[in-house]
Amino acid sequence: MLQIKDLTFDAWGRRFFDQATVSLPKDAKVGLVGRNGVGKSTLFKLILNQLALGSGEIGLPKAARIGSVDQEHPATPIPLLETVLAADIERASLLASLDTAEPEDLGDIYTRLIEIDADRAPSRAAEILAGLGFSNADLARPMAEFSGGWRMRVALAASLFAAPDLLLLDEPTNYLDLEGALWLEARLQKYPHTAMVISHDRELLDNSMDHILHLKDGKLDLYTGGYDSFERQVTEKLRLQEAMRTKIEAKRAHMQAFVDRFGAKASKATQAQSRLKMIAKLPPVSNIIEDRVAPFTLPSPERPLPPPLIRLEGADVGYGGAPILRKLNLRLDIDDRIGLLGVNGAGKSTFAKLVAGALDVESGTLVRSSRLKVGWFHQHQIEAMDPTDTPLEIIRRAMPQTSESQRRSKLAQFGLSYEKVDTTVANLSGGERARLLLNMVAMEAPHLLILDEPTNHLDIDSRRALLDALNDYEGAVILITHDRSLMELVADRLWLAADGGIEPFDGDMEDYAKFVLDRARVAARAPSQVTEAPVAPPPPPPPAPRIKVPTGTARRRVEAAEAALGRATTALAQIDAQLTDPAVFAKDPAKAADLGRRRAAAQTTVDGAEAEWLAAQEAYEALTADS
Ligand SMILES: Nc1ncnc2c1ncn2[C@@H]1O[C@H](COP(=O)(O)OP(=O)(O)OP(=O)(O)O)[C@@H](O)[C@H]1O
Ligand SMILES: [Mg+2]
Repeated sequence: MLQIKDLTFDAWGRRFFDQATVSLPKDAKVGLVGRNGVGKSTLFKLILNQLALGSGEIGLPKAARIGSVDQEHPATPIPLLETVLAADIERASLLASLDTAEPEDLGDIYTRLIEIDADRAPSRAAEILAGLGFSNADLARPMAEFSGGWRMRVALAASLFAAPDLLLLDEPTNYLDLEGALWLEARLQKYPHTAMVISHDRELLDNSMDHILHLKDGKLDLYTGGYDSFERQVTEKLRLQEAMRTKIEAKRAHMQAFVDRFGAKASKATQAQSRLKMIAKLPPVSNIIEDRVAPFTLPSPERPLPPPLIRLEGADVGYGGAPILRKLNLRLDIDDRIGLLGVNGAGKSTFAKLVAGALDVESGTLVRSSRLKVGWFHQHQIEAMDPTDTPLEIIRRAMPQTSESQRRSKLAQFGLSYEKVDTTVANLSGGERARLLLNMVAMEAPHLLILDEPTNHLDIDSRRALLDALNDYEGAVILITHDRSLMELVADRLWLAADGGIEPFDGDMEDYAKFVLDRARVAARAPSQVTEAPVAPPPPPPPAPRIKVPTGTARRRVEAAEAALGRATTALAQIDAQLTDPAVFAKDPAKAADLGRRRAAAQTTVDGAEAEWLAAQEAYEALTADS
């Protein structure tokens, strides 16, 4: 699918690609991995022609469509659903051409629209948006009503919907919650064409990718299998290289000893000469000490505080309107390691603000020590960085009393290489920015660290380094992350933010992933029955130029949903009628209990049927609205 041949690329005082060659099989799902700052995003820019190649070639089949997600998404007045639909350029242009086409061409256009299943496009788009966390009501809201992060999700939805021949995604889970990440994993697995995904998420790499492309030392190495298998293969390769190195070293030493015996006469003796030539021909042996990432520095708090760090009793918190979180009853001690779960919008960040002291309770009580120092890391800090700032400037403001060389050595300790300290924020890679901020948040040895998605952007080895640092850190931790393995390894208690409250979650991460997926399944409308319905026949060409697209399938979906909803409501009403009879309870408690269970099941059916009906209705309206 994608052929890269002898790619060499030098920029910003460094060689990024050195005769790199790789060929991606058609329809492969390829995870692109490598250290922070190694040039992964740069490779995408080269493929997308946003940067000029040094030398070599990047080849794609003729007419192959490439798709990627831009970092910026304008806050347009266009509704979400339409934004996503517009990404399918062929469908959009076919629909547009209906207005101007000659009557004799209309038949062809309709035939093609049916071929590409155009009348189901709105429901396909809606399904993707639902998977990424949008509600039905959101579909009609304009882009401008959503924050940058949510607009990124729309852009991701649009690129999945357009289904290009080569899909390029740069760390897509960074702007998703666990729920969205799980959905995306499943979606990428089934992606119908080739996808190349930059990711530091072990789960995503393992569950959705069938190849791993490793960028290291300017070379691209393709491995078959997921991340686990990649790690095994690399370890084995290193072991073999090490064995080879030892062997060659021994040979070299042996020959050198032979040459040395000739001493000063070596240059004359033919035997010695030939040995010297052989030594020169031995392959170079690099020392394969796996290069380690810089550790994180999370200094532990110096002075203990009397327990608890924080106590909340019946506390409500919000922003003036209706409280976001109500009746919080929680306490936090210095040895607590809390994993905070919940979908985006459930109030996790509001809780973080409350604990960090950036928000106050509206009612109820919050008790906290006045000496409590909190370090709070969150994504907005990265987004809020001034693109013209440099690491050296940032640290100068944080440590005004120190000398320039002390600041430089602090940055080196943070793992920022010497040449990076003067690089502007705009030109730092995502991982470099995250590393800088994470270290700075912890600089003052806080009693409590609140880490809100700390691993976004960090490469896999840096994540491990962060885990090590967290294990050594002696303060309390509140962790919010979609990185399941980190959560499992750090948190020893889970709290769940949901339905306007925060409660302890009874179970582990596996239980939570199951809980999330089950809920998503219940909420998911089931459009599968609809796809099996026969496609509408091509409408007679000229007489109806106002109809833009065949709506038959969508209409039948609405009718089927209506009928199903009717059946479900009737069934529920019948159970309700029996339940209102007090005699049932008095005479036959077992039957009453059974009825109760059946009522719950019937209610679930009604909810599902209602959701499907709404979705079908909306899909149908979207089709007919613009005609
Ligand atoms: N315009 C630029 N000027 C100077 N340096 C740059 C510029 N653009 C990128 N760099 C540097 O090139 C290196 C590679 O950047 P790139 O964004 O490709 O890394 P990456 O592999 O995607 O890393 P990450 O995993 O952190 O996202 C980084 O060290 C970055 O600071
Ligand atoms: Mg990158």
